[in-house]
Amino acid sequence: MVGIFDSGSGGLSVLREALKLLPQEKYIYFSDNAFCPYGDKDPEFIKNRCRTITELLLSKGAGIIVVACNTATAAAISTLRAEFPIKFIGMEPAVKLAAENTSTGVIGVLATAGTLAADKYKNTKDRFGNDARIVERVGQGFVELVENGDLESPHSREVVGQVLLPILEEKADRIVLGCTHYPFLEATMLRIIGDFRAEHHTDYGIELIDPAPAVVRQLTKVMEAEGIRHGKEGKVILHSSGDREILRRLYSTISV
Ligand code: DGL
Repeated sequence: MVGIFDSGSGGLSVLREALKLLPQEKYIYFSDNAFCPYGDKDPEFIKNRCRTITELLLSKGAGIIVVACNTATAAAISTLRAEFPIKFIGMEPAVKLAAENTSTGVIGVLATAGTLAADKYKNTKDRFGNDARIVERVGQGFVELVENGDLESPHSREVVGQVLLPILEEKADRIVLGCTHYPFLEATMLRIIGDFRAEHHTDYGIELIDPAPAVVRQLTKVMEAEGIRHGKEGKVILHSSGDREILRRLYSTISV
């Protein structure tokens, strides 16, 4: 069984990809929504939450765990790998892919304050940023929109626009979604990008980059290398530390 966890429902954007690539697998998803958001919490606090969640997922039978949260990956994945005898797959803002594909030479990275401040992200940027100019912004209010299921309203458009438009104005043409909650705001972002392109007559395409497909490919590789047996019939179990209704509602939008 594959364990997947996040501070909230955002990690469902990773589960969504996993269900496409490994539909026969059994998954247990844990949302730590009683403690959401993680984005501005102390890394030590996040590490302790990750330990507790890992123990719970192991006790339920998880044989491998996806830390479907960039903030938790940055704060805790090396600790988890050192302390638990199973494999962990983490998230990584897709700076490499963005830097390799930009035509304007400017990439945007949207993530939480915790991710942007972490050494892990700084190393990624140094190694893979090439010569791209990187415009970083915290998706202020985005996690709350997703947890409230407010994905496409005028209010969500206002909140998202305040963060996204300044990045577009800097001429970024590849926007890295460095938080697993953000892909749920994709429709709103694409609308804002469409309007921006029309208004500014941009002659370059603008793309959002979600690392979830790459993370799930990595999960598949590691499962194969470790000889972890694949499930026979797909099943998803949902758990949360807080209200489960929020999680159920968003899950119903990704499952078929
Ligand atoms: N979904 C998370 C991430 O990928 C964390 C959001 C939060 O709790 O602030 O970073």
